[in-house]
Amino acid sequence: MPTRRVTILGGSGFVGSQLTYRLAETFDEVVVLTRRAQRVRTLRTIINVQVKEVNVHDAEALAAALAGSSVVINLVGILNEGSNASESSFASAHSELTEKVLNACKVNGITRYLHMSALNADATGGSSEYLKTKGMAEEKVRQADASLQWTMFRPSVIFGKHDAFFNKFAALLRAMPVFPLAVPDAKLAPVYIGDVCDAMINSIDDPGAVGAAIELCGPQDYTLRELVQYTIDTAGISSKIIGLPDWAAKLQARVMEFVPGKPFSRDNYQSLQTDSVCAEGTQRQTTSLDAVVPRYIGAADWAGRLQKRRAAARR
Ligand SMILES: NC(=O)c1ccc[n+]([C@@H]2O[C@H](COP(=O)([O-])OP(=O)(O)OC[C@H]3O[C@@H](n4cnc5c(N)ncnc54)[C@H](OP(=O)(O)O)[C@@H]3O)[C@@H](O)[C@H]2O)c1
Repeated sequence: MPTRRVTILGGSGFVGSQLTYRLAETFDEVVVLTRRAQRVRTLRTIINVQVKEVNVHDAEALAAALAGSSVVINLVGILNEGSNASESSFASAHSELTEKVLNACKVNGITRYLHMSALNADATGGSSEYLKTKGMAEEKVRQADASLQWTMFRPSVIFGKHDAFFNKFAALLRAMPVFPLAVPDAKLAPVYIGDVCDAMINSIDDPGAVGAAIELCGPQDYTLRELVQYTIDTAGISSKIIGLPDWAAKLQARVMEFVPGKPFSRDNYQSLQTDSVCAEGTQRQTTSLDAVVPRYIGAADWAGRLQKRRAAARR
């Protein structure tokens, strides 16, 4: 059987690292393309994983890096724009880069492509630049050469060890006895990273997944307030949530853009204006928050706290 190589853009990130570990179990070779190989130390210890430092925005370098791949996976995504417009604006990181990846696949005769998008991505109606440019990238994929067998993934927020959701809230809550929460009624359906990786890996050799845009939601919908309260309870933090009215949420977003690491931005605020939940009838992923989250943000007595919360919910 010929060697099967899968190449991942965005393989160094939260989703990409997990996916790389899993792919290394089934593929002969996994190649992770990164802009800074130095930051991808742990993946390099896996015998059949190769980390290549490439400027993926350079079309020629990208085409050379994808040569010999059987499958290409594009996970690149940003929640906030960087200062370099040609590489880290929403448009360049999402739609323009996707176009370059699709061209590089065509040049190399690569026919299997997995694309990471997001729930509510919409080129014309997306509520934020993040969602609009994710939608523009989806359009590029749909219009790709007919020989390309693509599958797209549209998850709600993804949770798991090292996520940027529960870990970020836990860190902020620990520093703030009173927590002003923007858009507390926004709805999300957190989906476990293990379920996301399973869906992606299972799709690779599934002819039924070709041409599909797969929505990925966890078993339950929550409001943002419920998820932040869940973080408080699970991590054993003494913090009280104050839901912000809309005008204050907008002001908070504007101010937080100047805080290092941009914990919240006007574009994040805009994304939250559309509930990130799956349409009725969509098959849900099964892993619950309780099965995973307490293991990485939990207080020492998380099991006891969970039992108390469950007992209270039954009352
Ligand atoms: N995490 C979630 O809750 C969630 C929910 C819905 C959708 N998604 C989507 O899932 C994908 C992965 O998310 P994640 O949470 O794993 O993100 P992440 O941890 O921030 O990783 C993003 C990856 O993209 C690469 N990247 C970032 N900016 C780039 C740029 N300007 N040009 C080229 N590469 C760039 C980085 O690679 P290098 O720095 O190594 O080059 C990194 O490996 C994204 O497309 C995201 O939109 C995530």
